[in-house]
Amino acid sequence: MMEGKIAVVTGGFRGIGKAIALELARNGADIALLDVGSSEAGEAAVSEISALGRRAKAYSCDVSDFSSVEAAFQKIGEDLGKLDILVNNAGITRDKLLLAMKEEDFDSVIGVNLKGAFNTIKQAYPIMMRKRSGRIINVSSVSGMMGNAGQANYSASKAGIIGLTKTVAKELAGRNVTCNAIAPGFVSTDMTVDFEGKEEFLNAIPLKRFAKPEEIAKLVAFLASEDAGYITGEVIRIDGGMAM
Ligand SMILES: NC(=O)c1ccc[n+]([C@@H]2O[C@H](COP(=O)([O-])OP(=O)(O)OC[C@H]3O[C@@H](n4cnc5c(N)ncnc54)[C@H](O)[C@@H]3O)[C@@H](O)[C@H]2O)c1
Repeated sequence: MMEGKIAVVTGGFRGIGKAIALELARNGADIALLDVGSSEAGEAAVSEISALGRRAKAYSCDVSDFSSVEAAFQKIGEDLGKLDILVNNAGITRDKLLLAMKEEDFDSVIGVNLKGAFNTIKQAYPIMMRKRSGRIINVSSVSGMMGNAGQANYSASKAGIIGLTKTVAKELAGRNVTCNAIAPGFVSTDMTVDFEGKEEFLNAIPLKRFAKPEEIAKLVAFLASEDAGYITGEVIRIDGGMAM
């Protein structure tokens, strides 16, 4: 289905990003992973994707750094070709009540989660515009829709992603490029291994469990597919009913 397509997945060395990369590869895409994680983690992800018969490459890249992203996209163009699918998944948390939140806690989270998406879209935009096709999927969060005590920085970054998504969707619609966001609730990854109030949140989820990364990946793969060509500027919750 995605044979010959090239997908860039940020934060793809582990967690949701890795599950997305594997699902896109299963659908036929070649994959570029951008991450700040260890080279061992990158190689492990690449070999899992290669085992599916697809080309894959890992790039050490801090998405919050404009020139690092620019250099990575240059390399991706040389190694794999011009991209068709961009998934902005890289994200961090620095949770604290606002009273205790330091300026650097705010700046670093906005830098990775929001500016990181701007940085990659800046690179993808002219490529997709010229190709007159493309799919951009941004990973937001229900925190960006509902707010969440202790996450002023994270919620602001994830709400920002929604505004960015809708704007890019409007700017690129005439070029047959779609841009959508997904808003997961809780997903079982390293980000949610342990945190204060986990039991309480579980009780607030109608489906009474966290999502598996593979469930998030299936939604992203659908939005990246030809079948999703009439969906743009949308924010799709995938949260077990938590934010309804
Ligand atoms: N886990 C959840 O419950 C949940 C819920 C809603 C949204 N999300 C979002 O899903 C995305 C993935 O989350 P996850 O749970 O897989 O997290 P994770 O911490 O397991 O993985 C995040 C990945 O991003 C990479 N990364 C971090 N900073 C980076 C940077 N500056 N540049 C490039 N890569 C960077 C990490 O190295 C890691 O590989 C994030 O955007 C997160 O906010 C997660």
